[in-house]
Amino acid sequence: MATYINVPVAPPAQSARRTERIKLYGLDAFAGMRRAGALTARCLDEIAALVRDGTPLSEINTFVLDFAATHDARPATLGYKGYEYACCTSVNHVVCHGAPTARKLRADDIVNVDVTLVLDGWYGDASRMYAVGKPKIAAERLIRIAHEAMMRGIRAVRPGARLGDIGHAIQSYAASQRCSAVRDFCGHGIGQVFHDSPNILNVGKRNTGPELREGMIFTVEPMINLGRPDVKMLADDWTAVTRDRSLSAQFEHSIGVTAEGFEIFTLSHQGLHMPGVDLAVAQT
Ligand code: MF3
Ligand code: CO
Ligand code: CO
Repeated sequence: MATYINVPVAPPAQSARRTERIKLYGLDAFAGMRRAGALTARCLDEIAALVRDGTPLSEINTFVLDFAATHDARPATLGYKGYEYACCTSVNHVVCHGAPTARKLRADDIVNVDVTLVLDGWYGDASRMYAVGKPKIAAERLIRIAHEAMMRGIRAVRPGARLGDIGHAIQSYAASQRCSAVRDFCGHGIGQVFHDSPNILNVGKRNTGPELREGMIFTVEPMINLGRPDVKMLADDWTAVTRDRSLSAQFEHSIGVTAEGFEIFTLSHQGLHMPGVDLAVAQT
């Protein structure tokens, strides 16, 4: 009789409700996240062509609506807690949750576009920084730092590491670059719910917090400011801006914890990881 070793034990099916407990997911969930994540990544790839001088932010919203509709997906933000748009567009000193209004993009703007597409019940949540034309030196530096901060947070992920290790990696890197990590917003568990536990803070202490385990699924999404970390909410109660009006940048990936470390579900298959920098030469 054959004996089997190292056969992965599928965790029990997870409910599609937010829970205090951190859910552990199996192969089917990872497959679902891979598909949803890839779709969100493709949507973000295509948005790059829209980020030009004169494009109203609302055009990006319309694009995401159409893209979702043609791919049997749904934008998770539409109607979420009263938010009325298919994506967030956060320009310059806007930290996050900027609304895609009639405001037109113009030369030297940098903008984060954050898209969450739900495909077959799975949520793919990701964001990237874009730029109109070639970004100014300080803006390009900030974009690179925000991307590296996210990647350092992600690289801290493996079974046995702890949640605080992620925030520590982000915060210490931002500080080493004389930038600051925003404390008022964080990443989150994700899966068949938009925002689940645990909170993935952008600051933290090494070796603190819950232990990371294979099968966990969450986002890493640091916002990095050129100036102070403090944010201010605008009157619409959604838009967060830097209190000192310094530039802010953010990247986000949805990831899963694997036996080896991590899997990124929302990677660009076109290599457009930092559109604002990667495409700077191609733009005019
Ligand atoms: N996509 C954002 C995140 O990364 C959440 C946006 S919620 C909204 O978690 F309502 F502002 F759209
Ligand atoms: Co998110
Ligand atoms: Co997001």
